[in-house]
Amino acid sequence: MAIVPPIKSQGIKTKLVDWIQSSIENEAYERWVEPFMGTGVVGFNVRPKQALMCDSNPHIINFYNGIKEGEITSAKVNNFLTEEGQKLLNSNGEYYYEVRQRFNEKGNSLDFLFLSRSCFNGMMRFNRKGGFNVPFCKKPNRFAQALVTKITNQVKNVSKIIELGDFIFKHQDFQETLKELKASDLVYSDPPYIGRHVDYFDSWSEEEEVLLNTGLVHSKAKYLLSTWLSNKYRTNEYVFSIWEDSFISTKEHFYHVGGKEKNRNSVNEALISNIELTNSIPTNTMKSKIENGESQLTTTERKYQFPLQLTMKLEEESQHKNHTKND
Ligand SMILES: C[S@@+](CC[C@H](N)C(=O)[O-])C[C@H]1O[C@@H](n2cnc3c(N)ncnc32)[C@H](O)[C@@H]1O
Repeated sequence: MAIVPPIKSQGIKTKLVDWIQSSIENEAYERWVEPFMGTGVVGFNVRPKQALMCDSNPHIINFYNGIKEGEITSAKVNNFLTEEGQKLLNSNGEYYYEVRQRFNEKGNSLDFLFLSRSCFNGMMRFNRKGGFNVPFCKKPNRFAQALVTKITNQVKNVSKIIELGDFIFKHQDFQETLKELKASDLVYSDPPYIGRHVDYFDSWSEEEEVLLNTGLVHSKAKYLLSTWLSNKYRTNEYVFSIWEDSFISTKEHFYHVGGKEKNRNSVNEALISNIELTNSIPTNTMKSKIENGESQLTTTERKYQFPLQLTMKLEEESQHKNHTKND
């Protein structure tokens, strides 16, 4: 069971943590580096001895530096959310907007946590002026005792991990992080998806993806990149242009649009790396399979039974099995 961090975001990789961890279980490295830490769920679960965790969003970094410095403790979080949660309830939810305004003026880390856990769908979104602009989840009793205890425990868990490992949190652009890389690092990169959504701290272009690729290759560090390979509409061509000459491992991930079962969609998540991961194949091999219409990962929509999370067998592996069965 993955450790879940206290701050939420729409790009959180909780469901992919086990897969990412098992893909690199035999890899040796000195330092774990994340140029795009987001919620930090991957690094906190990997629990490296040494880590450099960076993000262009200062609020994330301030929050984790607050924990590291002992300014944010589980006891403080418990008191704060209990008291502020009571005000939220008494105001029938209106108090959310007071906290949001206060946060946008002063940037307090506990207010950031409050908003992250009571906003609509646990989203993290900022307007053009850098102001948090997600609306309220419309549950005035959001901070009932059970949730406060859960968040308090999440703070306790990450505090322990940060205390045991040598974690450094830095507010910086990925290009600065790339400059700090050493050949003995293992870099986990999870940039925003190109062109998917644009946000004050969170937009991404093809040029940036190229810079990321160049920086990682030049660093000689081992790297892992999270991206998507395909959904029912299209294939991510950047996997084969910018990230050619790498290895790719895939996993099908299901998600619901608006929570309705009939709107269940799937996306093939990809891990791209300069090292041969458990169950990976060269991106060029994947490319020829797609071009020859042999890929199971790029066909039109298919219907699946349970389980919800279905690990995609790599094509080579399943084809090999089919061969032996037919032989
Ligand atoms: C997809 S999220 C990372 C999610 C993370 N792996 C998780 O599981 O929570 C991408 C992150 O990149 C950060 N980001 C966007 N542009 C950046 C840049 N130019 N430099 C550094 N970080 C950036 C965003 O603030 C966001 O937190």
